[in-house]
Amino acid sequence: MEKLVKNKREKQMTLFGNNECPSYEEIMESYAKEFSEYVTPKGDTIFGFWMQTLADLEFLDLELQGLTDEYSIDPVNRTVNLKGDEDWIRLRIAHLEKINGKTTLYTDLVDKFGDTNAYAFHNLYPYKGKFYPRIVRTLINAFKLDQDSLILDPFNGSGTTTHEASLMGIKSVGIDVTPMGVILSELKNDLLFIDQKELDFTNIQIQDILKDIENKKWHYPKPFIYKLMLAIYFDTIDAFTRTSRYNRKGKIGLFMEKFNYIKDCYKKINDIKQKYELSFKRAIITEGDILELNNLSDMKEKFDACITSPPYYFSIDYVGKDKIAYDYLDIDMKKIESKYLGMKYNGHISNEYKGLPTRVAMYYDDLKKSIENIFWSLKPGGKLAIVIGDSTVNSKKIPTTLTTKKFCEEIGFKFEKLIFNPLLGARNRAIRGESVIVCKKEEQ
Ligand SMILES: C[S@@+](CC[C@H](N)C(=O)[O-])C[C@H]1O[C@@H](n2cnc3c(N)ncnc32)[C@H](O)[C@@H]1O
Repeated sequence: MEKLVKNKREKQMTLFGNNECPSYEEIMESYAKEFSEYVTPKGDTIFGFWMQTLADLEFLDLELQGLTDEYSIDPVNRTVNLKGDEDWIRLRIAHLEKINGKTTLYTDLVDKFGDTNAYAFHNLYPYKGKFYPRIVRTLINAFKLDQDSLILDPFNGSGTTTHEASLMGIKSVGIDVTPMGVILSELKNDLLFIDQKELDFTNIQIQDILKDIENKKWHYPKPFIYKLMLAIYFDTIDAFTRTSRYNRKGKIGLFMEKFNYIKDCYKKINDIKQKYELSFKRAIITEGDILELNNLSDMKEKFDACITSPPYYFSIDYVGKDKIAYDYLDIDMKKIESKYLGMKYNGHISNEYKGLPTRVAMYYDDLKKSIENIFWSLKPGGKLAIVIGDSTVNSKKIPTTLTTKKFCEEIGFKFEKLIFNPLLGARNRAIRGESVIVCKKEEQ
């Protein structure tokens, strides 16, 4: 009997042509080889590995339209055939890893910072509802913007648009109603232009700074360093309130780690700046309300493009998430919230929104007024990209994406494109993805 079983086992061949069971490592290696056959691009001008969705393919197409007149995309082999100023395209493009065998600037950023979104100072602070910098870069390319252009983001938040524009050497103006957003955007701005020495602090000095902040005795002659240390402190405290993961490091350990991360980013981005001989451009950052933009007459027909993302209807508490900071700075959160889109009830709601809950109608009223102000601030021929998502409130879908598109057209924009970008792995169940709506203010 034993002999019979043994014979049977001997005859049974495995996937690998022997009679031994493959190990976990062998299975993984075999699958990895087969998988890489499918996904490794075959050519000299190849997709970035970060291209994962059909939306990414559309973004690649969109930016190529702005960067060259002659190109074709081969999605099967993950390659592109293009003609044009290759050196310049290599500095600008956000979706290709190599052009004619040479690495793009974007690939260098991704490799150096180890992340497709957290390069330069984009990851300075975990501001909720942040843009993907890659989308901003794509839109800047698609809109053919250059050193003579001026970009607006009137919902600038933590400053992704302004920071990406600065990295690309393009002038921009960022406006946001939240003081914390303004502080962060300004910090990202300053960090690109300071001298390395300004970040030289010994461990003892850092410990003293933390103590001073905790005792509300923190002063520093340079406002930039003053605010930077506070932002790191708020981020540290926030991390401790959310998880016990950092207990072993302790507050000082985490504070130092975050400060050193910023020093590291400074070094990395300056290495890249030197390597590619980049020239960064400082952005103008202002605290303000988009609904009052048209009171600033010098903003009329001033901008070549607007790249922005309004607050998502009731999905994110933009002010509340920075409670630690506002409590520390003694800033009245209610006052900021009252300036928020959809929060100013003037007793009148347009007939257009009959049947909608009052709060949604108020939000739509303000959203439309915001788009009117954007239209007013753009030059004829100016471009608009709005990143917006639908939300679900009490299981009811609030169709903000198509409502926004309708507003743009009613106001006079020519609708050009809508790209739905699924948010893979999004933790917030109410937000499954966002759309990029592209429009143009036509020349008269
Ligand atoms: C989706 S977030 C933008 C995030 C930004 N793209 C970033 O990467 O950080 C929307 C922003 O709109 C701002 N906001 C809300 N109401 C506003 C208003 N009336 N005027 C200007 N900004 C406003 C919020 O403070 C929030 O920062």
